Amino acid sequence: MQNETLSVTDNRTGRSYTLPLFQGSIRATDLRQIKVEPDDFGVMSYDPAYLNTACCQSSITYIDGDKGILLYRGYPIDVLAERNSFLEVAYLLLFGELPGPAALKVWEDDITHHTLVHENIKKFMDGFHHDAHPMGMLVSTLAALSTFYPAARHVKDHTERDLQVLRLVGKIPTIAAYAYRHSLGLPYVYPDNSLGYTQNFLNMLWKMTAPKYEGNPVLARALEVLFILHADHEQNCGTTAMRCVGSSLPDPYVTAAAAAAGLSGPLHGGANEEVLKMLDEIGSVDHIPAYIDAVKAGKFKLMGFGHRVYKNYDPRARIIKQTAEQVFAVTGRNAKLDIALELEKIALEDPYFIQRKLYPNVDFYSGIIYQAMGFSPDMFTVLFAIPRMVGWLAQWKEMLDDPEQKIARPRQIYTGRMPETAGVAPQVKNELVGV
Ligand code: ACO
Repeated sequence: MQNETLSVTDNRTGRSYTLPLFQGSIRATDLRQIKVEPDDFGVMSYDPAYLNTACCQSSITYIDGDKGILLYRGYPIDVLAERNSFLEVAYLLLFGELPGPAALKVWEDDITHHTLVHENIKKFMDGFHHDAHPMGMLVSTLAALSTFYPAARHVKDHTERDLQVLRLVGKIPTIAAYAYRHSLGLPYVYPDNSLGYTQNFLNMLWKMTAPKYEGNPVLARALEVLFILHADHEQNCGTTAMRCVGSSLPDPYVTAAAAAAGLSGPLHGGANEEVLKMLDEIGSVDHIPAYIDAVKAGKFKLMGFGHRVYKNYDPRARIIKQTAEQVFAVTGRNAKLDIALELEKIALEDPYFIQRKLYPNVDFYSGIIYQAMGFSPDMFTVLFAIPRMVGWLAQWKEMLDDPEQKIARPRQIYTGRMPETAGVAPQVKNELVGV
């Protein structure tokens, strides 16, 4: 297209510059030519929290936040959630296309045969305090895997890289289940290779003394749908950590641990746990108006509402709401659902939320479903991390193969003291700079 440029005039010098536009963006480094003196550093862009900065080109996930659209590799999220298994979607995200029957069989076998963890991992996890948060256990154990697979540091070797992808996708449900069993003081359950991905996870969580455990198929499918919805969400905080940390080329275990740490915060994947605490605090439907008033007065945020990118209903929240009904048909209705539905209704009609385009996000209903399935709130973010591992790895692989990527190293605007204002005497100052 012609005229895909931006004209900039520097009012300090009167000079004009023509900057090429690419997909509606300028390259931040093109600003560096804009200088007053030849030896100036040049203009930078200042963007705390990356509100308006694209850090990569990606062909994995597309979001139109204004229209409420989410696509994985071009496929609408609702179509995938309705028709596909989690491992099919994982394959799609990691390799770019849905697998045919033969490729799917190999992929499922490969993942299944990497679910077991080294016995020393069990011992390592035994060392955690009895009330350790499962997310802390997950982050630490992911990092610890790095010490079991030293060859994983060869991240430019595609064979090694693909092997670690299988290990991480295969082992994360096992580690998550072990974290859960540890917090309950229950013996760990080994993976059962005859079960599918989510059924096996349920087995490792809930199996007691019976020789074989098979979870309720409705709950297993609901978990599968939740896993599909959480698998990737382009450049969120955790994924950005994956790309940023991965850019210095450490192995994927420590890199994924960094991403999981990013996910664990209450403003990100930790929000589902906070939603449950909030619903408990509200207690009943008639307390909602007072709670909403306190939110509007700025006392606290309505957890599970709002999103950096979605300024419309989060398409994942819509699907989760339907899944909740299917789960409650099996488990019985969770009283918190009534509070959540009423909260949503009031919030969606209130000018405060309408003006700020605050809609329920993916975390608003997921916690209620997880609790109905029998999970305690501190496991919710771990349940988010299992499928998100696929997104992290897909983005990590894409980053490693991107010829434009280098070690992530942002700039800053220094606002601190210089020696003159720090009160450093001239002779001391000279010593400091080695004169
Ligand atoms: N409740 C009440 N007010 C809110 C909320 C909320 N949940 N979220 C945003 N606002 C208000 C802000 O106070 C601000 O109001 P102001 O303009 O009067 O100052 C306005 O809406 C814009 O909010 P920002 O904080 O600028 O939005 P931002 O994009 O930085 O934050 C975030 C997005 C972090 C998700 C925020 O909406 C939030 O904290 N939500 C609650 C936590 C949550 O549910 N997180 C999960 C997100 S989904 C995920 O990570 C998987």
